[in-house]
Amino acid sequence: MTTTKAVLLLLLWTGLASAESGGSHEDSAGAAIAPLPPRHPNSLPEMQEMLIEMRELELKLEAVEDNNADLNNTLKQLQNINEESKVAFSVSFSVSSDIHIGPHDTDITLGFNHVFSNIGNAYSVRSGIFTAPVRGVYQFQYHIFAGGSHGAGAKLMKNGEQVAAAYNHKAPHDINTSQGLSLLLEKGDEVSLLLEAGWWVAAYQGHLTTFSGQLLFLM
Ligand SMILES: *[C@@H]1O[C@H](CO)[C@@H](O)[C@H](O)[C@H]1NC(C)=O
Ligand SMILES: *[C@@H]1O[C@H](CO)[C@@H](O)[C@H](O)[C@H]1NC(C)=O
Repeated sequence: MTTTKAVLLLLLWTGLASAESGGSHEDSAGAAIAPLPPRHPNSLPEMQEMLIEMRELELKLEAVEDNNADLNNTLKQLQNINEESKVAFSVSFSVSSDIHIGPHDTDITLGFNHVFSNIGNAYSVRSGIFTAPVRGVYQFQYHIFAGGSHGAGAKLMKNGEQVAAAYNHKAPHDINTSQGLSLLLEKGDEVSLLLEAGWWVAAYQGHLTTFSGQLLFLM
């Protein structure tokens, strides 16, 4: 029984007791109880009516408590969603001089080590892999800058499979190429940029090559 219900029933009981003892407001134990409402049942029908009202109040109270618990749960869910939704990263290369990565004999995952932002820590600097923390639609963008002596670009990989690519053949001057798309990802899906064998990208101090991703919304 909740405290509120107990107080209501106690009030009823003291009301009945005082009605029996001719309207005195003192309870037998003499404890400090809130003063009685000025209404005392003087007849059996009145008493029955009061009991019915009490029962109705009790039911209403239960309904309010249930509703309160539901609202609490809903609030907790919304707070969780709000926290889970904060996923965004932007990375580049941190270097002490302007260099190129590649061309290599084999494909490699680009390991960006300069972090502009990594809200939610879903991008791993160690592995170069973004792991979706929740199911949702994510948007990715990357921009590749490189000198023109080799083909330059990168492939956007999802769980080891190519989803898209940005590429430019070797050129008389330098190369800029970019790509961006939205993907529905399951929790745990992995997204990364792959540098194919023979390609290269610039890792210049000015951060001309970047990789970004954001959770657009949960699904
Ligand atoms: C609702 O949540 C608040 C704070 O988290 C807690 O104090 C209260 O007891 C909860 N009420 C119900 C009905 O669960
Ligand atoms: C590529 O972009 C860089 C700046 O990001 C610029 O300096 C360069 O001229 C661009 N190259 C070409 C071929 O447009």
